[in-house]
Amino acid sequence: MFTDLIPDSAPPVAKADAKVRFLRLLETALANSTFAKLLLSKYVGEEAQLDRLTVREVVLRGERQLSFLWRYQTRDITKNFPLAEALARLSELLGAQFHSAHLQTQSEEVQLVFSRKGRPSLRLGKAPPAVLPVATEAGHDKEKLRYLELSRPFWLDLGVTHLVRGEAQLVPAMSRKWKQINKFIEIFSAALKSSGLSDSPDVHVADFGSGKGYLTFAMHDWLRAQGKRAEVTGVELRDDMVKLCGAAAAKHQMTGLRFDQGDVRSYTPLRLDVMIALHACDIATDYAIHFGLRAGAKVIMCSPCCHKQVRPQMQTPTLLRPLLQHGIHLGQEAEMVTDGLRALLLEAEGYDTQVFEFVALEHTSKNKMILAVKRAQPLSAARRQELLEQIAEIKRFYGIREQELQTLLAA
Ligand SMILES: C[S@@+](CC[C@H](N)C(=O)[O-])C[C@H]1O[C@@H](n2cnc3c(N)ncnc32)[C@H](O)[C@@H]1O
Repeated sequence: MFTDLIPDSAPPVAKADAKVRFLRLLETALANSTFAKLLLSKYVGEEAQLDRLTVREVVLRGERQLSFLWRYQTRDITKNFPLAEALARLSELLGAQFHSAHLQTQSEEVQLVFSRKGRPSLRLGKAPPAVLPVATEAGHDKEKLRYLELSRPFWLDLGVTHLVRGEAQLVPAMSRKWKQINKFIEIFSAALKSSGLSDSPDVHVADFGSGKGYLTFAMHDWLRAQGKRAEVTGVELRDDMVKLCGAAAAKHQMTGLRFDQGDVRSYTPLRLDVMIALHACDIATDYAIHFGLRAGAKVIMCSPCCHKQVRPQMQTPTLLRPLLQHGIHLGQEAEMVTDGLRALLLEAEGYDTQVFEFVALEHTSKNKMILAVKRAQPLSAARRQELLEQIAEIKRFYGIREQELQTLLAA
């Protein structure tokens, strides 16, 4: 229970204002060293391009601080503050500049929201996701997370690990991403075998929408550890992230790892055996899949992000109206239809395709994976025709005019 976080000496919870309670929960999570992450959103201030503020804990010259990351549409600004100052700043920002705050501790979650009139309320009660205690994990969990090595020095540069008494340990707020990339590599290792690439000494990989490069570095490091001459390229729209990743790769002399500033929609084709994309936004996933198809990649692996293109086009079939009257079902339906169509299109292009949850929901709500491995034998014309007819029928059923991957393939 969240109330467990409140020390005995605190005044009765029910009497405290929601914002005060929220700040007290945050303070207690910091005192107990259970704080994982804080996200402030619904910005109502005057800076046009400011989107959100994320707050994580860092240790600088032995002092615990909170690192504030202001995310603008095209840049990020980071500032670190000692704990007391950080709490005072957060108190000023909540309600005045941000109307939503989401606190995540190692075992719990709580959300503070402000109404239009500025009235705060706390949302408690949902069983919160567990954050993997990787730094202190027991032998069994360690077994499952063996694919990547936490002690590799580049993780420090990427903010995945920090030094605790001279030893690299996972930053608690990074434990979900760590779980995701470990699972991604675990699944990739099996796909590599079934694609026949495990016999090849060279493997060329492109990671689209590489962001801060977590998966890109992981893929390079793991492939090199398998004795492959891996050539891994991260392609990312944001120049600041490309520079950050490029600098870390250069610092650690990681041969065959590079980061290109580019747009997946117009990226120039390169030799590609494997296309990966972890949470590339909306139709960027379609462009990434299409790029993999054009390049004849043997493995295409992506975990899609949002599904904005299909949802507004979907007309609810009469029979399904009672089910889809709930907003949540509509969202799930749009996701299923989008990823289902992508999978059918990949099948029609000659890939064995699976759609599944690659990590438990508690590690990310974007936990779906589309995995496609190129078949050794081409698809028969009859089977391809059957798949294309299924796609057309599903689109007709839902009234969908356009799905980006299909449009790209048609062009
Ligand atoms: C949600 S982040 C995921 C980052 C990374 N793959 C990860 O999982 O940590 C999506 C990234 O895709 C990038 N992106 C979005 N559209 C893109 C495009 N058209 N071309 C290249 N990168 C794009 C964004 O800038 C962002 O860094």
